[in-house]
Amino acid sequence: MNAYEIAVIPGDGIGPEVVDATLPFVADAAEERGAAFETTRFEWGTEYYLDHGEMMPDDGLDRLAEFDAIFLGAVGHPEVPDHVTLHGLLLPIRKGLDQYVCERPNVLFDGIESPLRGYGGGDVDFVVYRENTEGEYADIGGREHRGFDHETAVQSALFTRRGTERIIRAAFEAATEREGHLTSVTKSNAQAHSMVFWDDIVEEVAAEFPSVEVERLLVDAAAMDLIRRPHEFDVVVASNLFGDVLTDIGAQITGSMGLAPSGNVHPGPEYPSMFEPVHGSAPDIVGDGVANPLATVLSWSLLFDDLGEGDVADALWDGVADQLADGSAPRTPDLGGSAGTEAVVSDLRSRL
Ligand code: NAD
Ligand code: IPM
Ligand code: MN
Repeated sequence: MNAYEIAVIPGDGIGPEVVDATLPFVADAAEERGAAFETTRFEWGTEYYLDHGEMMPDDGLDRLAEFDAIFLGAVGHPEVPDHVTLHGLLLPIRKGLDQYVCERPNVLFDGIESPLRGYGGGDVDFVVYRENTEGEYADIGGREHRGFDHETAVQSALFTRRGTERIIRAAFEAATEREGHLTSVTKSNAQAHSMVFWDDIVEEVAAEFPSVEVERLLVDAAAMDLIRRPHEFDVVVASNLFGDVLTDIGAQITGSMGLAPSGNVHPGPEYPSMFEPVHGSAPDIVGDGVANPLATVLSWSLLFDDLGEGDVADALWDGVADQLADGSAPRTPDLGGSAGTEAVVSDLRSRL
């Protein structure tokens, strides 16, 4: 039996709801397939911030670095500004543990009705490779002359050759394992420095992958085409901000924010990767017991896949697919049902 040490950060809002509802079931499913894991729970987040003045302790990243993987619920609280909470916990982990590949699958499952007319199960299946450590999320800039008419804000984007090349190469590698089609999304008609640089690197890396067919889209056209012809996408590679925006579209056209999983992957052995649902803390439904736990289960599936535990990963993924395909299974309100989080998890348990 392989045994793993997993750090769990439930975080804010519905984060603890979906993490606590899924953890015992996921632990059993893993153990039954020969992958035991111990969790260490870190109660970091906005409550911690209100008590301690920081979202996590100073040595937080060093402590996380010791684990085999990290699972995170969500971060964000109506009482504290988002730039404080996200810059205090989620974003420093992605950057500090060099989790440069943000991998976000977008799959329209059987039994799920897409808001797009005519699309059924299996018709949408693409993965977004989002750069996760720099780009528009670089913490470079400042505000000057506060309160004056000439008050100024500067926010610079950072595109390094190393950072750009490695996410593009990771996306090409993924394309060779999938359908061999890669869409690079930029805005090089307007952003003539960083995005033309990105295009140049796509061209360089493409030479190493002659079997991959490369398409380039401007981000506005990509937003349109993800709605107009989502069936044609396979692997999408984009900068940090563009990848963020496009994956909310991906979640919605495949049924719900409550079904979208995500991995923040550091591909080497130096640091652990972190897995989390794409959604946030959903303050509008917190405490109602209706948060969809399936994005969380699918994110656990990505975690086990990354650890090399394919059987566990497949069991969790297939269990979700099986439940969604069953018209009589419980569903949360985001999928048009009236069941709660717990009912969905216990049904899933019975399927595995
Ligand atoms: P959100 O994802 O929290 O919610 C958007 C909408 O989707 C809401 O109507 C919500 O009820 C619904 N939703 C989300 N997850 C759901 C689930 N599992 N089941 C059913 N419905 C679900 O995005 P938001 O409202 O823009 O942001 C709320 C807070 O979360 C903000 O503080 C934001 O900064 C933060 N946020 C954090 C993360 C993260 O931790 N990774 C991601 C996105 C937003
Ligand atoms: C996401 C979220 C985060 C991001 C926010 C909360 C900083 O929207 O994980 O998609 O932009 O990466
Ligand atoms: Mn987002």
